[in-house]
Amino acid sequence: MVNSLDQFISLKEFEPAARTVLPHPVYEYIAGGAGDEITLRENESAFDRIRLWPRVLRNVRTVDPGVSLFGVRFRSPIILAPVAYQKMMHPLGELASVRGAGRAGVPFVVSTNTTTLFEDLAAAATQPLWFQLYFQRERAETKALIQRVEAAGCQGVCVTVDTPVLGTRVRQFRAGFQLPFEMDTPHNQRGGGARGNSDLDRHTPIEWSDIEWLRSVVHSKLWLKGVLHPEDAEQAIRLGVDGIMVSNHGARNLDTTVATIDVLPSICRQVSGRVPVIVDGGIRRGADIVKALARGAAAVMIGRPYVYALAVDGEDGVARSVELLERDFRYAMALVGHASVETLDRTLEWPGENEDA
Ligand code: FNR
Ligand code: LAC
Repeated sequence: MVNSLDQFISLKEFEPAARTVLPHPVYEYIAGGAGDEITLRENESAFDRIRLWPRVLRNVRTVDPGVSLFGVRFRSPIILAPVAYQKMMHPLGELASVRGAGRAGVPFVVSTNTTTLFEDLAAAATQPLWFQLYFQRERAETKALIQRVEAAGCQGVCVTVDTPVLGTRVRQFRAGFQLPFEMDTPHNQRGGGARGNSDLDRHTPIEWSDIEWLRSVVHSKLWLKGVLHPEDAEQAIRLGVDGIMVSNHGARNLDTTVATIDVLPSICRQVSGRVPVIVDGGIRRGADIVKALARGAAAVMIGRPYVYALAVDGEDGVARSVELLERDFRYAMALVGHASVETLDRTLEWPGENEDA
């Protein structure tokens, strides 16, 4: 393709490269956040503000970046977040992503707004596949969708709870982003959220009673994606949810919401190990993953970075982006003095000048 993948050394480098190959409206759709993009910047800068406080001379000859979720061992804590409309980013779309995820050994979360059939992705998957759920107009349709993906091998359903409406996405609107009519979203009868500004109201708002219903319908693991408040995490656990995803939707919905890494400790305190917590938003380097796990996350998801890599070089790009991040994570673990993720905790955060070292 246009770029030799060897030239990419860190995850952030895929963004400028993708910008040169993507049509402007598609780039703006991916890159943009809601409103003035305060939270978009904050998701990353909140990680930047945390200073690491390494320990030395420990045995880090063999660093194991693997994590356990529900007793299953994963090779690394990295998961590919659900991202809509991937055929706009590469002709093979989600198929290229799922192959790249397989090669890199990480799970892939399929968006309800996938442009590829879940069954086709399942046939190509060599790692766990999860499904991100947007409710359809009727519960019967939603139930049929869940049964369909679970029959095809879906191991987890992540219901997105932070999107009763899409946000005011200034850049996406200004650039005139539209889903082309020939591009189908076969699992979303509502047509997704991208056929122009009028689609702001295309989402089906859901409430706690819907989660109660969903729990009786989902047989695989049920995750709530988009939790930012400990009391919401508590309510979710009461309703029997299997896991919590702390997310502000990549800062795409409501601007000035709290950065996910900042709110993670209070949610993990509330959850106190009853269910796993996953965090996404602004994770770009290995050290960010160290910080997320130190603050109690069981795993992390990345969104924009892997779809930029998808745009740059399809399956190879996706695999390369994850491998770069995983390697950076292994280095960061060794450099803070931890050989396994189980020992990562907040003692590796510099507490600030006022505390005595
Ligand atoms: C998303 N995200 C998203 N989330 C979701 O639940 N369903 C979806 O269809 C989409 N679609 C989508 C499209 C694009 C272009 C982006 C960038 C993001 C949000 C995504 O799952 C994740 O929460 C964020 O992307 C994480 O933040 P970073 O890694 O992009 O900073
Ligand atoms: C987005 C929707 C589709 O973030 O979830 O673009």
